[in-house]
Amino acid sequence: MKLNIAVLPGDGIGPEVTTEAVKVLKAIAQKYNHNFSFTSAPIGSRGIEEAGAPLPKKTLEVCKNADAILMGTIGDPKYDGLDTEIRPERGLLELRKSLGLFANIRPISTYEALLHKSPLKGKIIKNTDFIIFRELTGGIYYGEKEIAADGNSASDNCSYSADEIDRIAHLAFKSARSRRKILTLVDKDNILATSRLWRKRVKIIARDYPEVKLFFLHVDNAAMHLLMNPRKFDVILTENMFGDILSDEASVISGSIGLLASASLGERSALFEPIHGAYNKYTGQNVANPLATILSAAMLLEHFEMHEEADAIKNAVEKSIELGITTPDLNSSKKYAHTSDVGEFISEYIIDEKNVLYNIENIDLGQSTII
Ligand code: IPM
Ligand code: MN
Repeated sequence: MKLNIAVLPGDGIGPEVTTEAVKVLKAIAQKYNHNFSFTSAPIGSRGIEEAGAPLPKKTLEVCKNADAILMGTIGDPKYDGLDTEIRPERGLLELRKSLGLFANIRPISTYEALLHKSPLKGKIIKNTDFIIFRELTGGIYYGEKEIAADGNSASDNCSYSADEIDRIAHLAFKSARSRRKILTLVDKDNILATSRLWRKRVKIIARDYPEVKLFFLHVDNAAMHLLMNPRKFDVILTENMFGDILSDEASVISGSIGLLASASLGERSALFEPIHGAYNKYTGQNVANPLATILSAAMLLEHFEMHEEADAIKNAVEKSIELGITTPDLNSSKKYAHTSDVGEFISEYIIDEKNVLYNIENIDLGQSTII
């Protein structure tokens, strides 16, 4: 398959983790005879510095002309506390809006070898497997914002239309139908008018999917159940801000936020990015976990129905975790791997699994002989 992929490395550790994901996609192209081309463009604080805007016009053009977008991370503490609308994050929000990326899909699952990494009990989180469908272009993120002239009051408007709810609800129901057939709408309908509209629309749409069991949960209660009984969730459908908060919370189940991938889909565009932030503190140290971005690349392949290729990435990721070829967030021993080592291992494993395992065994053997 021929794919033109826009790469937006972004800020902080973004460039490091996207480099590894591109490396892995190149390995897939080599192994499965695909033709992937990559076009890089600045966004976030890089956009502000290089082209005067968090989403430079040229970057938007590159994205519009691409088949898919692979993104790193956005954010830079030097903009914190500044009373300015020109923030790096705006680049991502504008991109989501301009491309109509209304559905953000965030799968959460556990790895047997990492159960001990979660602060939650293994017996509670074992075999967790759910997906959060987060609405991405509406709600309080995009509502009108106001700060009074005297600076003493402020407001953020939260609004949703039936259409905005319906289109993501259909995607979530379809996903649930192909999985364990349980959909939980997370809202706050005892307080919010928008939540009452969500419930109304979702109940109507549910009639098209009679085989899917529909549950409702208030967001505060959902936050508790996610940690107490995560296995009971299959598909969670929710609005923008609740989805943002709950997905960070849910990352605790996997053992590291450095593992969670996401896809943001619209009518014509698709963007793939890790759910974690830019971790500027660790920039340039080659220690950031690239797995979330590499797994986002796997979601990209799945989007184009390259299932075997996506599985090849997921298997290689699992192997790296099993062998402890992982960054310090997952590997607290002195023998942790660097960002680039993880990407290198995964790429080599994809291309020639036997050879890379043979080499690893021999390296270990060599070391033990020396000792
Ligand atoms: C995310 C991030 C973004 C968001 C930020 C970087 C604007 O936290 O993708 O979850 O709040 O949506
Ligand atoms: Mn977030």
